[in-house]
Amino acid sequence: MRGSKLRAAGVKGIGAYLPERILTNADLEKLVETSDQWILERTGIRERRIASKDETAATLGTRAAIEAIKDAGINPTDVQCIITATITPDYFFPATACLIQDAIGATGAAAFDLLVGCTGFVYGLVIASQMVSYGAFDNVLVIGADVLSKFINWRDRHTCVLFGDGAGAAVISQIDDDYGLLGFDIGSDGSLSKLLRIEAGGSHRPASLMTVLEEAHSLTMNGSEVFKFAVRAMSDSTRRALQACGLDVEHVSLFVPHQANMRIVRAAAERLQIPIERIFTNVEKYGNTSAASIPIALAEADKLGRIKRGDIVVCTSFGGGLSWASCVLRW
Ligand code: ACO
Repeated sequence: MRGSKLRAAGVKGIGAYLPERILTNADLEKLVETSDQWILERTGIRERRIASKDETAATLGTRAAIEAIKDAGINPTDVQCIITATITPDYFFPATACLIQDAIGATGAAAFDLLVGCTGFVYGLVIASQMVSYGAFDNVLVIGADVLSKFINWRDRHTCVLFGDGAGAAVISQIDDDYGLLGFDIGSDGSLSKLLRIEAGGSHRPASLMTVLEEAHSLTMNGSEVFKFAVRAMSDSTRRALQACGLDVEHVSLFVPHQANMRIVRAAAERLQIPIERIFTNVEKYGNTSAASIPIALAEADKLGRIKRGDIVVCTSFGGGLSWASCVLRW
């Protein structure tokens, strides 16, 4: 630590990138036995973006990172550390963050990945803020990038209608005192890990002809159990994060939840007694983009003027692990 006083750390720049190809609910009706009405009623999703053959977590993450760096008004060489939250990395190793480091020209920056499902971006934001607060780095780039379309079983209607691809990024830097990250709450419950996972390909069950034939490399999920967990985790975690900085739900200007499913968002908001006007959602257009969902939503809310300087913004998420994470920011 450089001085005795911790530095205020927060979002200095934000950006997002979505692949061009749109897959609508009507398109999905041709792939599996489903309907626009079912998907819309159960999830609130109308369409999602799908990466091209050449697009990966690293290429999407790079596009979002460039936007965030531009927005922050810094140069790529000013970035000293890159954290990429992804469960769909380009390779098992090297880290996707290293590929992005090279692609954006962040010479010599530290780079590593976080594997915490949809909660990864908020975990990354919390870690990056601590690094900046303690003076370890001046600018940390946090990226959420996922291409779940490449890990979905496109014959499984329970999962294939839910997800989309995308990336979002934020530059975390020192900012004015009393702004930035005010409080957070992160945690996990590994006893629920089986509810949401990709079964094969790791050391537990290495890839083989059998695992490919059994389609064990695609995401599986117990939807109704994950749903119940999500509502509880997001609302309880939001309360703990607000408590950590002495604030209450009524102080929140904008609530930016993980964009998994409109019904989950509504149920969590009800438990927290947050009016729907104070909640930002775009799940209708992009589906669940996993670790990218919160930074994409933040970037869009910022662009649309939904967040003003001084606003209290709460981001909350749940995901694989199972895990949860919430953060309170003064914008
Ligand atoms: N189209 C039409 N019917 C369907 C579809 C579909 N796409 N999917 C399922 N159904 C059927 C089911 O087969 C079932 O009928 P059955 O009992 O005769 O088989 C019926 O619809 C009801 O299914 P449920 O699963 O009970 O429906 P539910 O109301 O729970 O909604 C959903 C399912 C949308 C998946 C919900 O459970 C949910 O949103 N869960 C959370 C999912 C989520 O957010 N996951 C996040 C992952 S985060 C990460 O880290 C990647």
